[in-house]
Amino acid sequence: MNPFKRRTGVLPSYFTGRENELKELKRIFDSTKEGDSGHIVVYGPKGIGKTCLLLKFQEELRNTKEVYAIRIPLVEGTFNDIYSLIVDKCADSLEIKVSSFWESIKGMGVNIPFIGGFTVSKEIPPTSPSVAIEKILKAIYEKLGGKDPVLILLFDDLQRILANEDTQRVLSILQNALVELNLQGMKIMFVATGSFDIFSKIQEYTDSAVRIFDPYELRPLSLNEVREAITIPSRNEGISFTEDVIKRIYAVSEGNPYYLQVVAHNCFEEAVNSKVSMAEFEKAFPTALSFLAQREFRGMYETAANEEKKILAIIAENNSDVLAYKEIKENKNIKSEPSKVLKNMIEKNLILKEARGRYKLRDEMFREYLRTLKPYKENGTLNSLNSI
Ligand SMILES: Nc1ncnc2c1ncn2[C@@H]1O[C@H](COP(=O)(O)OP(=O)(O)OP(=O)(O)O)[C@@H](O)[C@H]1O
Ligand SMILES: [Mg+2]
Repeated sequence: MNPFKRRTGVLPSYFTGRENELKELKRIFDSTKEGDSGHIVVYGPKGIGKTCLLLKFQEELRNTKEVYAIRIPLVEGTFNDIYSLIVDKCADSLEIKVSSFWESIKGMGVNIPFIGGFTVSKEIPPTSPSVAIEKILKAIYEKLGGKDPVLILLFDDLQRILANEDTQRVLSILQNALVELNLQGMKIMFVATGSFDIFSKIQEYTDSAVRIFDPYELRPLSLNEVREAITIPSRNEGISFTEDVIKRIYAVSEGNPYYLQVVAHNCFEEAVNSKVSMAEFEKAFPTALSFLAQREFRGMYETAANEEKKILAIIAENNSDVLAYKEIKENKNIKSEPSKVLKNMIEKNLILKEARGRYKLRDEMFREYLRTLKPYKENGTLNSLNSI
């Protein structure tokens, strides 16, 4: 059986590293338990391991008494959608009927129209989001068993609710609610995950909202961690990877666990005599790349604007990884001043800006995709590749 996962959002068969992250979460948990609540936002690019970190933390606390860690995968929607999601997930994991939750929330005088099967009188003004959230969390907290319980809310993919105009204020609203509930002695800890640019997004809308949320950047895995993530689960299946293959996987994935899993999955499939060496890697890699192209890269490329596609081609076809602003600007395919386009591309996470106006592609795997499949060749984005 192939032990490597080809999608995000599922625990790997062997979880590697993340000791510091789990320690930090544990520290905040201990502090919350002592009465000094802490809140954290873990952020990083796609596939870096945000969801799995939450799952692992939840798993570590599974048998701890009076501790309730509830994971809420967020989806785009209005405040009302978020309320229902929170209530549904909490009801589920506490094994309480959703309707009984809404009864007690309504009992606190909260008026949310058309929610939980209730239609509330039009004459009563609707409750403001921050009061509603506060009352909902309070109702949940009061349903917890034990004398002095700790509620840990794990909000996965915070950027999804920030995308919606209506919910941009969600963090400051959450902040108000949490501060209020913590003041009332309720031990509630909040952990959220978000995309790589979550903090700049948050600051744009609500600069004071970042105050109580500690930012924590989830970093790529080290070579040792990558080695463990590959050798341990494959050995259990009787397959071994040579050291040069492991180093290649580390190089192409740059320690991103999603890429690592996909490439290792394809390598595993190619094993010959229970072994994966460079010959098998060479066979497996194009398959892994086209899988990632279908899932991720093609969409990223195709939704880029024409001018952005040109710049992607120019950077990809360049011999060195990084390109100076001047080299992009003076390329003959570029007709107008590219600063604004470059800025947009950074925001979309297509490219990264190094110090002093130097640009590179978002990651090595995306670069491999562009260089190998050359999507800019098909539709004449550039007059001819030689003209780059
Ligand atoms: N510590 C780890 N060790 C080994 N594999 C891991 C580890 N963390 C994550 N993975 C694997 O990497 C992949 C991506 O992980 P995860 O879904 O947690 O990323 P994510 O940051 O939540 O991605 P997304 O941005 O899509 O939400 C999954 O297949 C998972 O099994
Ligand atoms: Mg995730």
